[in-house]
Amino acid sequence: MCGIVGYIGNDDAKEILLTGLEKLEYRGYDSAGVAVRSKDNTDLFKVKGRIATLREAVDSNVTATTGIGHTRWATHGQPNQTNAHPHQSTTGRFTLVHNGVVENFQELKDEYLSDVNFVSETDTEVIVQLMERFEKDTNDTLEAFRRTIELLHGSYALAVLDHDAEDTVYVAKNKSPLLVGLGDNFNVVASDSMAMLQVTDQFVELMDEEVVLVTKDHVKIQKLNGEEVTREPFTAEIDASDIEKGTYPHFMLKEIDEQPFVMRKIIQEYQDENDQIKLDQDVRQAMADCDRVYIIAAGTSYHAGLIGKEFLEKIAQVPTEVHIASEFSYNMPLLSEKPLFVFISQSGETADLRSVLVEVNRLGHPALTMTNVPGSTLSRESNYTLHLHAGPEIAVASTKAYTAQMAVLVILAVDTARAKGLTLDFDPLKELAIVGNAMEALCDQKDQLEKIAQEYLQTTRNCFFIGRGLDYFVGLEGALKLKEISYIQAEGFAGGELKHGTIALIEEGTPVIALATQEHVSSSIRSNVSEVVARGANACIISPEDLYKEGDAFTFSDVHPLLTPLASVVTLQLISYYAALHRDCDVDKPRNLAKSVTVE
Ligand code: M6R
Repeated sequence: MCGIVGYIGNDDAKEILLTGLEKLEYRGYDSAGVAVRSKDNTDLFKVKGRIATLREAVDSNVTATTGIGHTRWATHGQPNQTNAHPHQSTTGRFTLVHNGVVENFQELKDEYLSDVNFVSETDTEVIVQLMERFEKDTNDTLEAFRRTIELLHGSYALAVLDHDAEDTVYVAKNKSPLLVGLGDNFNVVASDSMAMLQVTDQFVELMDEEVVLVTKDHVKIQKLNGEEVTREPFTAEIDASDIEKGTYPHFMLKEIDEQPFVMRKIIQEYQDENDQIKLDQDVRQAMADCDRVYIIAAGTSYHAGLIGKEFLEKIAQVPTEVHIASEFSYNMPLLSEKPLFVFISQSGETADLRSVLVEVNRLGHPALTMTNVPGSTLSRESNYTLHLHAGPEIAVASTKAYTAQMAVLVILAVDTARAKGLTLDFDPLKELAIVGNAMEALCDQKDQLEKIAQEYLQTTRNCFFIGRGLDYFVGLEGALKLKEISYIQAEGFAGGELKHGTIALIEEGTPVIALATQEHVSSSIRSNVSEVVARGANACIISPEDLYKEGDAFTFSDVHPLLTPLASVVTLQLISYYAALHRDCDVDKPRNLAKSVTVE
């Protein structure tokens, strides 16, 4: 979604900002812009489209050592050049970039700015116009900034330049993430540390209801009442090479291939010196204390949650519910007496989850976040965190984070079972090592999966995924993967549900991808396949070696039956990847989508 960068120092601001914006491209955006402040002017460059286009638009003769930049994912107003950020106040004195949504922008316009001629259709412009209005009233930029943010309802991360003031970037946030990065004789602002790893790995987290003044050699954090705040920086532990594609054509393919290593990393991180599970004692206690787990997640992470419920109930005998975050926010079910909330989120920034977490915290229930980004908002605001250790995931389509989520969930389930004294014939760390090997073998069979994508999906309009039990949940994920990157209308169904309606959609040549990895339902799912084939479907059965039957399109090495989702999904990820590739889709940056969804 939207991204913010800012720089104040002695070097060429525009280059640092453009490089920073390139690092944020993976988040998804539709327009971009930068503003750089030189002695005489604050120059604005904005385009609809990619950062490459912005680069061409930026005047290379402009020299400036202070600036702000933005990638926009439209919420209010068309994705066009006018609505792109930065926005300027009427006189051009104030220039601003904003992530988030100002919910009361119309009320603010009506009450304070009825005489102002607005240029854009955005909610954002109201903020910069308020700054100008209040500066006129007070002759004090900081006071104008404070007054402005006190009036805003909704979510925001802001960086503002004042052309008339000495070099300062004014910064504030509410709900949306924002960091200040520290350097020698320069400082930076970023909505994601990845954007500024090029210049620093030292970052200071900002909190809601703070105003922050960033100069080239100082960062001053104040609460809204003026009280000063000191906060230690943290080191962003991301290897800059992790966020490069290397020799891969796409991040998605690189991330699919990384899954065996992620399995090994998770084993290493969750194993103690006696080869037993190593888990935070507080998390163990929270699991022991609860009478029901409520998993809250969205998209792919929700699909991991569905598998997690199976693990927690079958292995640890903990009653578990899985909820789509955006539904739970508005329709909370009756809760048990001792609930434990488990938020599953790759990014740790998803706004739909955060609004549930705010409510859960208000009610005083314990919350555990499973995330790939330990310093993220959800992680900070939960009682406990379990790290996914998948490494930065850049492609919009989530792959390695999903398998990491399932791996950590199975470790949590087994640990809980053991803490309860349940006898288990299951060592998750050993089984995950087998999964890692199976994934590796699978990734070596790309040619075969590319052929399947071509044969079944090259020209189709739609596609169905079917399965039973765990396979049904993997089918949902396969369908999401395919639709988001190839734009094929794809749906996942429980095999037994087809004849209750969906089978009406099957016609000559309709691709149906069936997962047959569960022995106890193997013959039923194969019967469902026969039913669709009898109606003309082009069926593609995927099975593990021990359940293979002649005619199956693809088979993968055996893994523990409970862990087949971790292997079978890799086939679906690769099939989706090649389907998108052969349909000339932008694999890593699918249309309309954002990597981390920071608006509700
Ligand atoms: O960062 P999160 O795991 O909270 O994100 C949730 C979804 O937005 C995400 O999984 C989305 O569905 C992916 N694009 C799917 O590939």
